Amino acid sequence: MATEIFDKINAIIEEIESARPAGLEELETFRIKYLGSKNVLKPLSGEIRNIPNERKKDFGLLINKAKQTAEQKYKALEFDLQTAEESQSAANLDLTAPGEPIELGARHPIALTMNRIINIFERIGFVVAEEREIEDDWHNFTAMNTPEDHPARDMQDTFYLKDSTTMLLRTHTSPVQARVMTRQQPPIRIIAPGRVYRNETISARSHCQFHQVEGLYVDENVSFADMKQTLLYFAREMFGPDVKIRLRPSFFPFTEPSAEMDVYLGTETEKDYRLTKGTGWLEILGCGMVDPQVLENCGIDPEKYTGFAFGMGIERQALRLYDIADIRAFFENDVRFLKQFTSVM
Ligand code: DAH
Repeated sequence: MATEIFDKINAIIEEIESARPAGLEELETFRIKYLGSKNVLKPLSGEIRNIPNERKKDFGLLINKAKQTAEQKYKALEFDLQTAEESQSAANLDLTAPGEPIELGARHPIALTMNRIINIFERIGFVVAEEREIEDDWHNFTAMNTPEDHPARDMQDTFYLKDSTTMLLRTHTSPVQARVMTRQQPPIRIIAPGRVYRNETISARSHCQFHQVEGLYVDENVSFADMKQTLLYFAREMFGPDVKIRLRPSFFPFTEPSAEMDVYLGTETEKDYRLTKGTGWLEILGCGMVDPQVLENCGIDPEKYTGFAFGMGIERQALRLYDIADIRAFFENDVRFLKQFTSVM
């Protein structure tokens, strides 16, 4: 009986040594048979009780040898089969095939235009300030000296958040002025680019979402002449050294005096004729000296400090820069349209 069991185990060891699984699947069958929780050696090891005492040690050693043989064989087979499979798939690789084409991304024309504007102002010491698009009416209107009954506060023009009379999508980038001035004392010299929202009918010329760049400069002795010089510098950098500007008196609740600035593009090209409605002049921004009331609302002493501010729309400048006819193209995300714009900026 005892000899028989020794023979059985030796036979299993031979079986293990000569096993040649053809693939990873057969290797798994091998593993289950010799190393799994119900492997063939298990019932045999239980037989130790029937082995005479003087042979128990040999029996244990033989069982262990069988286990180790199975483990080593399994590891070696696994390694061989895996490398074989890998070299097989490497052999199927066509090293002469052309590579996958790399799709180069493009910047959105609005971002390109905005970056260009930011760049121009950064060169003369303005720093970028970014704030939230969901604003409260204090920053968007009250601080900016827009009274309760001002038409701009009308529900018709402003997107208020659902069930709210105070939270809204900002209607301009001017609340960034209030955000910065309430936390920082002059000198302040910021440029605030971003998206704004108004409840307008969507057409080729206007949209319910668009972009603005706000500028604010507050310090001692800041004058209207400083503003004019800064804006002239901007116009020359943006539209070319020969561009002419004109400031027309205007009204904004947050500036006094207020003006609108036009740049002279001429009517020589068809697009400039169209864009300026035949006058040669394109209105690009609103500006003015910060109303002392606004400074006071934000905790800045209007006796000590003065400032100028301006706000410009991006879309109209982008239309001209890239010769685009319809503002809606900016928001449709048509890849064929977007792919046309490449620039390092
Ligand atoms: N916030 C104004 C608008 O959306 C634009 C503007 C005008 C901004 C004059 C200013 C400013 O900072 O001084 O129409």
